[in-house]
Amino acid sequence: MNRRDFLLASAAAVPGLRADEPVGTGFIGTGNRGSYLLRATLAQPGVKVVAVCDIKPDRLDKAATAAGRDQPATFTDYRRMLERKDIGAVFIASPCDLHVEMAIAALQAGKHVYCEKPAGITPESIGRLVRVAKASRTVYQVGQQMRADAKLQKTIAKIHEGIAGKLIMAKAQRHAGEDLDHEGPSKDWFFNAQRSGDVIVEMAVHNLDECNWAIGSRPDRAGGFGGALLWKDDPPGRTNMDGYTLSYDYANGVKLSFTQVFFHPNRLPNGGQYLHVYGVLGAVDVGGGMFYPSARGAAPVALLTPEERQAKPQNDAHIAGFLECVRTGSKPTTGIEVAATAALTAILGREAIYQKKVVTWQDLGVEI
Ligand SMILES: NC(=O)c1ccc[n+]([C@@H]2O[C@H](COP(=O)([O-])OP(=O)(O)OC[C@H]3O[C@@H](n4cnc5c(N)ncnc54)[C@H](O)[C@@H]3O)[C@@H](O)[C@H]2O)c1
Repeated sequence: MNRRDFLLASAAAVPGLRADEPVGTGFIGTGNRGSYLLRATLAQPGVKVVAVCDIKPDRLDKAATAAGRDQPATFTDYRRMLERKDIGAVFIASPCDLHVEMAIAALQAGKHVYCEKPAGITPESIGRLVRVAKASRTVYQVGQQMRADAKLQKTIAKIHEGIAGKLIMAKAQRHAGEDLDHEGPSKDWFFNAQRSGDVIVEMAVHNLDECNWAIGSRPDRAGGFGGALLWKDDPPGRTNMDGYTLSYDYANGVKLSFTQVFFHPNRLPNGGQYLHVYGVLGAVDVGGGMFYPSARGAAPVALLTPEERQAKPQNDAHIAGFLECVRTGSKPTTGIEVAATAALTAILGREAIYQKKVVTWQDLGVEI
């Protein structure tokens, strides 16, 4: 089957969509991330951008121009946009505190949903989203694109096949050399933990999801410490942390040590992001695609071929995967279970730090 035949055949699976009809898409929030999602979607076959929505006129104009090929309608009220019958799939890239209400409204309007991470920033709202998404006949996919990375998929499959033996511990970090731009376009929400969910939920949700994926479980409890350690009240009114350290105890017994900082000097070694997973037979450097056996004198094992290692990252694979689910009705790699578990893992850590005590998964009170 060539690509066109595949698209035509699979399009038949979308309720109400003729086989030769493109998927009509709408975009809510066309800032930094939303612009990328829009560009990447325009590059996919069999898609039409029907509408774009943002409350900031400059962002809306830019998006309408970027999607000029399809002459999209423009909206400032996303609920009005959701009334359009010619929109089958909605992309949401608004500030984090709006994800749940927008995703629920889109699902209830019968749309397929690609919503940026985190799924939500409070346990209660995530619980509501889980109930609606599970009852929905349309696709919900969260924007945790690491799960679509072919190198990570292969390396983590090797862990699951047992290359390191029974897993016992993991160590991961997300270290940056500087704070997010204090005068940047997201300053109206990013530094406010009530809107972003704090940096652990807004950013480290990617890393913590990678930990859940590689470890093959989710945490039972967490304890940790952190706060605004360097950037105190800077920018003024800031409630986001800039550094913390956490310990997670996983349901399958694995212990995870995780740190995030915004003051790792660029020339200090061991910065950036990594995940090391330790088993009884050795350790895997997940990002590096290498296994290091514990046996004395045993050589490291490359888990990727040289071609796989050099392959260009498929940045848009997560969007292509979503559109395929929309067309075929197949299950997304980052559906509601993965999305909710990742967000709750981050929230568990955040609450342990905020409440200065060990917090358990049961304390969050969400059934997934
Ligand atoms: N997957 C990733 O790697 C990744 C990367 C960056 C950001 N993100 C996520 O994407 C989301 C947006 O981040 P960003 O960096 O683009 O922020 P941003 O501030 O650049 O963009 C947010 C946009 O949402 C708009 N908006 C706010 N309220 C709205 C409303 N009620 N209706 C319509 N539009 C509204 C704002 O005007 C703005 O244009 C965040 O949740 C962030 O965590 C994900």
